[in-house]
Amino acid sequence: MNQTRIVRPDTQSRATHIIPLVLICVTTCIIASCTSSSTSFTNPKATGTAATFARNCAICHGADGAGKVINRVAVPSLREGRAATADDAKLNHQITNGGNGMPAFDSQLSRAEIEGLVKYIREELQRN
Ligand code: HEC
Repeated sequence: MNQTRIVRPDTQSRATHIIPLVLICVTTCIIASCTSSSTSFTNPKATGTAATFARNCAICHGADGAGKVINRVAVPSLREGRAATADDAKLNHQITNGGNGMPAFDSQLSRAEIEGLVKYIREELQRN
């Protein structure tokens, strides 16, 4: 009998099971990162008011406008509270001139873009 030809089925089958598992994990990660970057809130190539919001406002107010705390500064929600009770002119004024921790956007955005953002806050953020 030739003893050197003995294979070890245990070790081999374990290896052939691990490789497909690793491949599945890697593929899942790639797919997950693709789908999350193609949502309208985070896609930097998107155009329109949603994209203007995503680029300029979401970093502080959150992608859905729910607000958050950054470096101990409480950024208010745009969905409820003061933003919901204040009139359009007040929101427009805050976006244009900033204040209390928020930068002014009058030099970065056009009047039309700021008006579009007020509309976006009313029609998208406060309605959902
Ligand atoms: C650097 C962080 C930051 C960015 C960027 C920012 N904001 Fe703000 N925003 C704030 C803070 C802080 C306040 C609260 C100001 C206050 O208390 O008077 C605020 C207040 C507001 C308010 C008034 C809400 C309220 O409760 O009185 C509106 C409307 C608003 N932001 C809209 C926007 C929009 C639209 C953008 C994007 C163009 C934007 N913000 C970008 C930090 C930010």
